Amino acid sequence: MTERMEFGMRAAVGEAPQAADGAPEPSETARTLPPDASVDLAAERAGTQVDEVLDALDAELVGLAPVKTRIREIAALLLVDRARARFGIDSGRPNLHMCFTGGPGTGKTTVALRLAELLHRLGYVRKSHLVSVTRDDLVGQYVGHTAPKTKEVLKRAMGGVLFIDEAYYLYRAENERDYGQEAIEILLQVMENRRDDLVVVLAGYKDRMDSFFASNPGMSSRIAHHIDFPDYTVEELEAIGRLMAERQGYRLAPETEPVFRDYLERRRARPRFANARSVRNAIERARLRHANRLIAAGGRVGLDDLTVLRPEDFLASRVFADPDRPS
Ligand SMILES: Nc1ncnc2c1ncn2[C@@H]1O[C@H](COP(=O)(O)OP(=O)(O)OP(=O)(O)O)[C@@H](O)[C@H]1O
Ligand SMILES: [Mg+2]
Repeated sequence: MTERMEFGMRAAVGEAPQAADGAPEPSETARTLPPDASVDLAAERAGTQVDEVLDALDAELVGLAPVKTRIREIAALLLVDRARARFGIDSGRPNLHMCFTGGPGTGKTTVALRLAELLHRLGYVRKSHLVSVTRDDLVGQYVGHTAPKTKEVLKRAMGGVLFIDEAYYLYRAENERDYGQEAIEILLQVMENRRDDLVVVLAGYKDRMDSFFASNPGMSSRIAHHIDFPDYTVEELEAIGRLMAERQGYRLAPETEPVFRDYLERRRARPRFANARSVRNAIERARLRHANRLIAAGGRVGLDDLTVLRPEDFLASRVFADPDRPS
């Protein structure tokens, strides 16, 4: 929960100062163009600075090719819609409510944050913020508490993206009178009527999401894009680890590479494995051991000592010792 609040807060802090003033203006005047005019798509594209977000997505996230492709397609659609609008063609706003399915740590929240930024730059939403919530933020404990809670969250998210993590917890098949149903009804209405001012992204495990949609066809029909985030392969996890280490000014010694791979294979088979998040934690712990190793050795250190992670920085992990411990 705290982590989810952080995501929302971090996004809100990062919001562009001019965000509340509305979407970025098209680069030429807003006058309707005559039929024989033309629009420079490259200039439009540069004007929105959308490539910065797409490039950041590419650089920041290893793999996820289908996810990145879909986000690029959405960007293309919105750019072309802007050009069409210049000629006075009103195709109506495309529905962009989405569902992100995948296991823990597969990049759903990270992509949603980038998506919010992208939609803002393309003028689809007024703000670049993402408000991330779970059932507890929407559903009350007592009669009459749910509607105000849900409406408060919607008010906060309006103009940007509302990210509902583990959305299926809103629906409890075993309890007809569960207050979650009330939250769902309100969400459905807003997803339909306020489409011009809010994008809703539902996230969670694929199988549970599928049964949620089976029980809530109204919700299913309002989702335009289903995007799946598969678990990472060991090779991808390795690349993610290398990227994370590099970002923090570390690198793996050549002899550390096979140890790190072995670590990942063992960790992946353990309970509570969370894909890239587990990799992040592994790098953090290796940093800790690396620092302790240097301090314990004493003496002078050079750049290599300070930046190279050695096999022992991973081998001390419990995954190599007690098979039932998670870390
Ligand atoms: N493909 C990737 N390449 C590099 N880093 C990644 C990748 N995917 C995720 N990460 C990193 O892993 C961490 C977890 O990612 P994120 O929070 O986006 O996952 P999630 O799918 O939302 O997880 P959860 O379902 O548990 O909420 C983040 O620090 C993110 O930057
Ligand atoms: Mg998440």
